[in-house]
Formats: sequence, C-alpha cells, structure tokens
Amino acid sequence: MLKGMDQRPDFTMAQPLAEYSPVDHATWRTLFHRQEALLPGRACEEFLAGMRGLGASAEAIPDFDRLSDNLEKATGWRIVAVPGLVPDEVFFGHLARRRFPVTWWIRKPEKMDYLQEPDVFHDLFGHVPLLMNPVFADYMQAYGEGALKAVKLGDLPHLARLYWYTVEFGLIRTPSGLRIYGAGIFSSKAESIHCLESPSPNRIGFDLFRVMRTRYRIDTFQKTYFVINGFRQLFEATRPDFTPYYEALQRLPDYGAGDVVEGDKVITRGNREGWGTTDDV
Ligand code: PHE
Ligand code: CO
Repeated sequence: MLKGMDQRPDFTMAQPLAEYSPVDHATWRTLFHRQEALLPGRACEEFLAGMRGLGASAEAIPDFDRLSDNLEKATGWRIVAVPGLVPDEVFFGHLARRRFPVTWWIRKPEKMDYLQEPDVFHDLFGHVPLLMNPVFADYMQAYGEGALKAVKLGDLPHLARLYWYTVEFGLIRTPSGLRIYGAGIFSSKAESIHCLESPSPNRIGFDLFRVMRTRYRIDTFQKTYFVINGFRQLFEATRPDFTPYYEALQRLPDYGAGDVVEGDKVITRGNREGWGTTDDV
C-alpha cells in the first residue's frame, strides 16, 4: 500500500484525496460551472458524450479510480495520478499503455484564468472526456507509441507539434459548424470563445506535414487552429510509419505560428489583430 504522497518509479501515486481542502473543491466547482456554460454550441458531440459517460460533475474534484472504472469499460483507458509534469518518455509510456497521467492538485483561486502548468482541471476536464471515444482513444495510444519511437529517432519536436495542434488546440468541422476538441482550449474560458469567434486567428484544414512544420506559442492564444474533419481523419493520417517523415522534415523549413502558406486549406484567414511583432517560439 502506498501512503500519503509516495511516488512510484513510474511517477504515479495514489490520488491524495484527503489533501484537497474545501477551497480546492470550490475552485473545481467554479471552473467546472464556468466551462460547462460555454460548451453548448462550442464543444464537439464526442466531448459532450464523453463528459456525460464519465460521470464527472461540478460537485467536487473527482475520485480518479471511480472515473477510471467508467473509462475502462468504455475504451480500456485508466487515469493515473501524478505530481505534475513527468519526463517525456514516462508520459508517452503511460499513453502507450492506455493510462492517462492526471496532475492531482488544483490551481489556487488567484490563478483561476491562467496557469503555465497543467493541473487537475486541465488534465481531467480538458483531456479525459475524449478518451471515452474509441477512435480518439486509439489515436492517443498510437501517439504514445509513436512518440517513444520519435524520441529514439531524435525527432520529438516535430511530433510534439502534432500533439499541440490536435490534442491541445484542435478544432473539428461538424455539420453545425466548427467545434472544439482540444484540451488546452477546454480549460481556458477566454480561448474557448476566442478560437471560434475571434477574427484574429487563422483556421486551416488539417494537413499532417503542414502541422508538423508549424511552430507554436505557449504564452498567448494560438495564431492558427488546425481543423480536422473527424477523428478518423486524424487516426488515418497518422497510421503510417513516420520514420521517413522525420527524415523529410529535417530538411524542410519551419513555418511561423501565424503563417498562411501555399496549399493551405484556409477556412478563415485571420486579420492578425493583437498579434504584435514578437517572434514565434
Ligand atoms: N504512426 C506513427 C509512427 O509510426 C505514430 C503516430 C501515431 C504518431 C499516432 C502520431 C499519432 O511513428
Ligand atoms: Co494538456
């Protein structure tokens, strides 16, 4: 039995449920209600269905084991508690074994809107509902396996952009319009509105190479959102062995986060309002 905050060699730990204060649970409740109100007409159906099936509610920070039982029945995934960001290979190793690492602690009330590191609200509310979807669940496992390979081949940076522009900041085209599926958007009130309604960013149809060549910003709203037609498209585009792709990408120049380039399937071209002159990272 693990006691208290003991960490296992794979960086997981028992979720320290007794450590959550009433303030922590209230923070969860506030964030949950705030984001929930934004979901209708903005979140994709798969996310909404996942949220319902998972059984997470605003009431309190959920018990990971209880949610995992629902998740495991749906797609074979489980949630594991971690103290925060874990080394890349550890993280991808978990994904490859259908375990999603979730930071156990929640942000302080004075940091409601902006946090540099993931906390339980980002990891759980943002990421876990889509793991209830069989196609997305398979994509995430395949990503984990692919990332372990990319680390060995020494080209994680190109693959990390794919994660960023899909899992974290992806939009999806539906018959009723564009919808959100990215976790980084779901855990931000302002970006949940900005990504769909602002005239400043580009919205461009997903293309694997285009995405892997594109730098990204971690400190502001995205300048470009890539739009998939469905989770099948994502899964199929990433099915081939990427080894030759990495070789090709090494020789291709990067694109800036706000560039629009020849061949882009432009859905909306951003007016670049508020972008300033800072360089992309
Ligand atoms: N198929 C890719 C490879 O062989 C792995 C991958 C899967 C990457 C899913 C991204 C998403 O490297
Ligand atoms: Co995330």
